[in-house]
Amino acid sequence: MNYHVMTLFPEMIDSAVNCSILGKAIERNLINVNAVNIRDYTLDKHKKVDDYTYGGGAGMLMAPQPVYDCHKAISESISRNRKVRTIYVTPQGKVFDQDLAKELSNEEDLIFLCGHYEGIDERVLEEVVTDYVSIGDYVLTGGELPSLVMMDCISRLIPGVLSNEESAQTESFDDGLLEYPQYTRPEIWMDKRVPEVLLSGHHANIEKWRHEMSLERTKQRRPDLYEIYAFKNRKD
Ligand code: ADE
Repeated sequence: MNYHVMTLFPEMIDSAVNCSILGKAIERNLINVNAVNIRDYTLDKHKKVDDYTYGGGAGMLMAPQPVYDCHKAISESISRNRKVRTIYVTPQGKVFDQDLAKELSNEEDLIFLCGHYEGIDERVLEEVVTDYVSIGDYVLTGGELPSLVMMDCISRLIPGVLSNEESAQTESFDDGLLEYPQYTRPEIWMDKRVPEVLLSGHHANIEKWRHEMSLERTKQRRPDLYEIYAFKNRKD
């Protein structure tokens, strides 16, 4: 997977991707992260990338020319005929979830466009963007953190990025439910005992208990997900 991140702050992307699991995945050439500075493409002699909004209103807008030329350079470097999926990270987009992460993990290249200031001129968005994606119903100062969140989530779905042990683990959202509670040693901590069934060695009972806990936890913490699960698994 090759990620191309169009940003005014490439150092924000570079500093975050070079550690932990993503860092290892880069070392092993399983993923590649190419942070591209949009400012490098401005034709303005003062290196300006923003301007006032037509019609008035507070704040500045990213101008179309540098964004377009930056996108063009990236697309040409990929040198493939089809249009590469270009994700504008914006609170106005579809909310990112595990299903979208799975879908995007099948792409060979992804371009993320990070906005700043009050946003980006609508005309260049119409030209280059294929997907408008948000990471949740709240507003951040720019698109870098949402892009990093998405790259992290997508990368762990790419074969080889997680070790076998890590990827074999059951995960929250795997089946539309939250994960059950887990315990490690010691058996008693602060007068709290590890649930008896987990010490029994009886695998069928352990699986049953875990499923029940997943159901219970989802019902309590995420009733919205529980309703979807119950509907999908209804016995008519
Ligand atoms: N930019 C600012 N806030 C955002 C959000 N919640 N999701 C994606 N991009 C954003």
